[in-house]
Amino acid sequence: MNISYNAPKKRFTLNTAHTTYAFEIWDNLYPVHLYYGPKAVITHGFKPEDFNSFSPNPNFNNKSYSLDTLPLEFSSFGNSDYRTPSVQIEFENGSKITDFIYEGFEIVPFKAPLKTLPASFSHEKDEAETLILTLKDLISGCKIELYYSVFPHTDVITKSTKILNSSQETLKVLALASGQIDFHHSNFDLIHLCGAWARERDLVRTSVHKTAHAIESKRGASGHHQNPFMALVDPNTTEFHGDCYGFNLIYSGSFKHQLEVSPYDQFRVVSGLNPFNFSWVLLPDESFESPEMILTYSANGLNQMSQNFHHFIKQHVLSPSFAYLERPVLINNWEATYFDFDEDKLKALICSAEEMGAELFVLDDGWFGNRNDDTSSLGDWFENPKKLPNGIKAIAQFAVNHHVNFGLWVEPEMVSKNSHLYRAHPEYCLQTPSRPQTEGRNQLILDLSNSEVCDMLFDNLATLLKKAPISYVKWDMNRNMTEVYSERFNQGEVEHRYYLGLYALIKRLTTAFPSVLFEGCSGGGGRFDLGILHFMPQNWTSDNTDAVARLKIQYATSLAYPIITMGAHISAVPNHQTGRVTPFSFRAHVAMSGNLGVELDPTALTENDLTALSEFIKLYKSHRQLIQNGSFYRISSPFENTLTAWCFLSSDAREILLFAFRPFKIANMPLKKIKCPYADENLNYGLVSTSFEDTKPEAFSDIHGSQLKYDGLYMPHAQGDFKSCYWYLKSF
Ligand code: DGJ
Repeated sequence: MNISYNAPKKRFTLNTAHTTYAFEIWDNLYPVHLYYGPKAVITHGFKPEDFNSFSPNPNFNNKSYSLDTLPLEFSSFGNSDYRTPSVQIEFENGSKITDFIYEGFEIVPFKAPLKTLPASFSHEKDEAETLILTLKDLISGCKIELYYSVFPHTDVITKSTKILNSSQETLKVLALASGQIDFHHSNFDLIHLCGAWARERDLVRTSVHKTAHAIESKRGASGHHQNPFMALVDPNTTEFHGDCYGFNLIYSGSFKHQLEVSPYDQFRVVSGLNPFNFSWVLLPDESFESPEMILTYSANGLNQMSQNFHHFIKQHVLSPSFAYLERPVLINNWEATYFDFDEDKLKALICSAEEMGAELFVLDDGWFGNRNDDTSSLGDWFENPKKLPNGIKAIAQFAVNHHVNFGLWVEPEMVSKNSHLYRAHPEYCLQTPSRPQTEGRNQLILDLSNSEVCDMLFDNLATLLKKAPISYVKWDMNRNMTEVYSERFNQGEVEHRYYLGLYALIKRLTTAFPSVLFEGCSGGGGRFDLGILHFMPQNWTSDNTDAVARLKIQYATSLAYPIITMGAHISAVPNHQTGRVTPFSFRAHVAMSGNLGVELDPTALTENDLTALSEFIKLYKSHRQLIQNGSFYRISSPFENTLTAWCFLSSDAREILLFAFRPFKIANMPLKKIKCPYADENLNYGLVSTSFEDTKPEAFSDIHGSQLKYDGLYMPHAQGDFKSCYWYLKSF
């Protein structure tokens, strides 16, 4: 039993392998948070007298405590808790006051799916347990169900919330959090991932002491600017040591983590759909469910938190048929040709792909309608006869005949004004009557809250996928929402209904084409979130393919997401986003640390460079299982150090692939050893291979695990910038 209930104390304890989460029902009224942290036996609660304050007392006889100071599992609005509530409902008379109190609970030995949204799942009974706590607002009769699912093996607890309108009137839900936690102190650093296009997921660490923060998106997408992942850590926490709490949401639209410090130094986190511009009409007997929030606690620093997330995501969020499936080495023509290609050019790229050992050729933007730049044709998902006179089928078949699978880029959620689709159905776009439509990258957004639009997209995409041997789809989305409006619904529902439509569409497609690998993309990593990953098991990490920039982007992305979800491509120099010229080995080592792709024109390479690329792809394939399905650990951060280091470990720790990168040379540089804290101190490791360029480490035959762990290795000395090397170590 991972969830237990102490009836006399009305106390619930949720245990995972290494963590405990506990709360109890006070006065038979309010669920009060007791504890979340390392595994512990919680035998003591609190006394009401400890929770007096200047704030009013609850609306029941003789209550001396204040809700405003109670650490609550769920808080209502207007009932004397002045902090951010978990729910806000507008009744027909305009009142928004509720007071949800405990009604009962149920424990079930599984994790049920959500009805409308992507969510985590358990494969077998006993892999997860769920506590469903029911609360009731006595005046209106409305109910709340709080879902707590415990995944003991990965140290993850998920939360979600459902509201049921058991009143007699029509309600408007103005806010409904996925989960709330009231920590008993605020001595935390907040770690979050913010950025912009081509600069996604910059790791920011800041003290939260006595300050309110919001990590959010209001853009109609999880976005480039803030990722739904965040962590609260002890100020002394490092990658290797210390307390940390990780949070994420299985959602792709506007979200919010509201963080608030009370005057009593308690710290509230309320996470879920962004209440900004949100409202949902709920008729009597209808219900509404929130996205799922995932939570983990690690006592061993950020690396352990990431391990928990990585294992959980692979085991319980990604589609089981792809979660552990080795990803193909792909070549994508975007940076090789942009819009400027014809069939002969593509054939040449495919032949080079075969020669270099790539397994998948991806035809990116520009193959359809009359698209020669970004001003037209989105929505017209049929081939451009000028570029592909023999059609998609012929070029896909050409690839397959050359032992390379074929993949295709689409951007189904969008439409160009200059397209057949827009001319035939201008009403299919998100738009507000009598207001101009704001374009982004010359495109408008289709209204996926309209099922007719989703059906049309399904038919068009299914026709395309049936027409040719297509084994991969890159699903792009290159702008955020404006003029969000629909004649069908209350306006506060439209964005969320868009995501319900999108998820249902992708689910239909992935069910109809179960062997097609989908890769999510949004101008690079603008929708790198668990909602998309649930259906599309990998994502294009960033449009920035510069290896120096990628060190930070990939390092920070790995805090929350497993390596097997990250696309990483070797591109040409000078790099198209930064103009930087880095050597092949440096680019290769960075790209090798994800799902490897090639994004350059191999027909423009010298024979020597092409050979180096083929050799490198061979090398990648020999380590692919370890990279994609091993455990990834960060060792030295590019955000703090001149040296970046990370490693991949097999599950028995017998194989280690250790990388070191030194992007910029410093004269008379201080020396720093790279330790591998996750090596097994009881094993001896033989050095099987090392990198091949001018940073080739000094040869040694073996090294003991304890030395790797406590002493480490020096990165070889070399003059110049952009140096990298690796050690592949194995204990036989
Ligand atoms: C943005 C993506 O991130 C790129 O990789 C490429 O597919 C372009 N869109 C195509 O328009």
